[in-house]
Amino acid sequence: METLAGLKRTHKCGELRKENVGAEVTVMGWAHAYRNLGGVIFVYLRDRSGMVQLVFNEEQNKEIFEKAETIRNEFVLAAVGEVVLRDAAAVNDKVPTGDIEITVKELRILSKAETPPIYIEEDSDVREEVRLKYRYLDLRRPDMQRLIELRHRVCKIVRDYYDKNGFLEIETPMLTKSTPEGARDYLVPSRVHPGHFYALPQSPQLYKQLLMLSGMDRYLQIVKCFRDEDLRADRQPEFTQIDLEMSFVNVDDVLEINEGLMKVIFKEILGIDLKTPFRRMTYQEAMDRFGSDKPDTRFGFELVDLSDIVKDCGFKVFTDAVAGGGSVRAINCKGGAAKLSRRDLDSLVDFVKIYKAKGMAWMTVEEEGIKSSIAKFLSEDEVKNILAKTEAEAGDIIMFVADKNSVVYDALGNLRLELARRFDMLKKDEYDLLWVTEFPLFEYSEEEDRYVAKHHPFTMPMDEDIPLLSTEPEKVRAKAYDMIFNGNEVGGGSLRIFNTELQQQMFEALGFTKEEAWEQFGFLMNAFRYGTPPHGGMAYGLDRLVMLLAGRDSIRDVIAFPKVKDASELMTETPGTVSAKQLEELHLSLQNID
Ligand code: AMO
Ligand code: AMP
Repeated sequence: METLAGLKRTHKCGELRKENVGAEVTVMGWAHAYRNLGGVIFVYLRDRSGMVQLVFNEEQNKEIFEKAETIRNEFVLAAVGEVVLRDAAAVNDKVPTGDIEITVKELRILSKAETPPIYIEEDSDVREEVRLKYRYLDLRRPDMQRLIELRHRVCKIVRDYYDKNGFLEIETPMLTKSTPEGARDYLVPSRVHPGHFYALPQSPQLYKQLLMLSGMDRYLQIVKCFRDEDLRADRQPEFTQIDLEMSFVNVDDVLEINEGLMKVIFKEILGIDLKTPFRRMTYQEAMDRFGSDKPDTRFGFELVDLSDIVKDCGFKVFTDAVAGGGSVRAINCKGGAAKLSRRDLDSLVDFVKIYKAKGMAWMTVEEEGIKSSIAKFLSEDEVKNILAKTEAEAGDIIMFVADKNSVVYDALGNLRLELARRFDMLKKDEYDLLWVTEFPLFEYSEEEDRYVAKHHPFTMPMDEDIPLLSTEPEKVRAKAYDMIFNGNEVGGGSLRIFNTELQQQMFEALGFTKEEAWEQFGFLMNAFRYGTPPHGGMAYGLDRLVMLLAGRDSIRDVIAFPKVKDASELMTETPGTVSAKQLEELHLSLQNID
């Protein structure tokens, strides 16, 4: 076995250039590609910085040449040699080191490698399960290395930026009490306290509020959060937040400082000058125009409310929806007639059904008139008014959904995204950032048959809506905001309640008894009694932010060791079973599990 004894790396593989010609260098890395042309061997040596070509010449040094013949892909090598200029014909402009190569005079094989189960190549199309099983190899791929580096750079910018603005980075416990962020908790049984459990934090929400009470003024943490929820491309059971909280602030102060962060990140990472302040849109406007509280405003296809026009028409589905308090809304799919066949339209009807719509009526506008699945139900005037309100012209297709509002928003909101995807309108290098504000404080949970906090129970209601808390809770708006990046919720936060009475009122509206509220959150309400600064903050999903900056579609791509859909980690085969002894120590017994 060869070692590094007496050797010191002088350069990274990717940094050698023409200027280094003539220098003796020592490089170390993995054999990326090997070519034996008979008498000459070329090896591309790869490390995180890039690749450089090593040359072994049989005539010049037979002993090293023979050793080089044993090299296989992914062997770990150290090479000492002279940087020489390549012949003009041999220059490779695909790699930054392509003008030069290293004539090797000392070679050490530090570690041999078996043939790897996946190709160590840029953008390899190996199945994700295999990549994740061998994640340590997958992470050798240059594109993965760039993503991990990007994530590091974003974290560094974040820390520097908030530091400059007076934030302190403070850690909060991982073994903690359950906080109501709305997802299921991951629990950790206590050995010392039989039958008692810690919860892993869904977020540091309560601790950061208490830190404001402690006079820390401005808090920051890049922190792991844990939520046992169904996974999607933008959700992991453990994910990372950029979490912050500020004292003595209004909504504008929080938004401003965070716009500043995005400005720096965009400049340093993408070289783009973001315009601030960002656009702001109330929750209601976002829903009415885009059918979503995270609107992608890079393209049109906005929703139009046609309830007034069709409320007395001859189509019972429409009139019933309006009479029942719902609505009839439509999207004008501009130029759709030329792009969508009848069969495409049928597939879109199926598409909206995913979102619980019962159907999707359509109307194609032609020079001579209209063609529609509901033509026979509409009067000439009604058609004229629909065309006017949707600003429809020949070649457009109007798509209608009638239902209760939540279904109409959801179906049309997703339909406009689907249309944009089909028409290839979502450009990854077009950046769209905005704030959605004035969220409802509560939302009705059909599952629990009660109001639940839309954001979390510590969110401050808007001053003018406080009287509605006990009478019409569904109308109360919150001092809450989300940052939306290309149709993704990349962060969210709020101003917080900072007095006991209002907090208690809030818990009551959420259906907690006084006793339950005190038992679970007494420490917080108690704390409020000792002088509480008005405070507020937000948290970004770091994984989502990096994913979007990198133009990727899955946060798994920017997490070194992510979990898959069923919340397992394929490389370590986590979760796993534990010994009977461990269970006993934790006072746990398992039911029969299949
Ligand atoms: P919230 O629950 O909105 O707010 O979370 C903040 C941000 O975290 C990201 N996020 C996730 N990312 C990946 N996987 C998940 N499972 C996941 N869940 C959330 C989103 C989201 O915008 N304590 C509050 C913040 C505050 O009020 O200051 C909170 O946690 O990008
Ligand atoms: P029907 O009379 O059921 O054949 O429906 C006529 C048209 O109305 C079809 O194109 C259906 O897809 C559409 N439709 C049915 N229910 C709804 C609804 N809730 N909203 C919008 N369109 C609907």
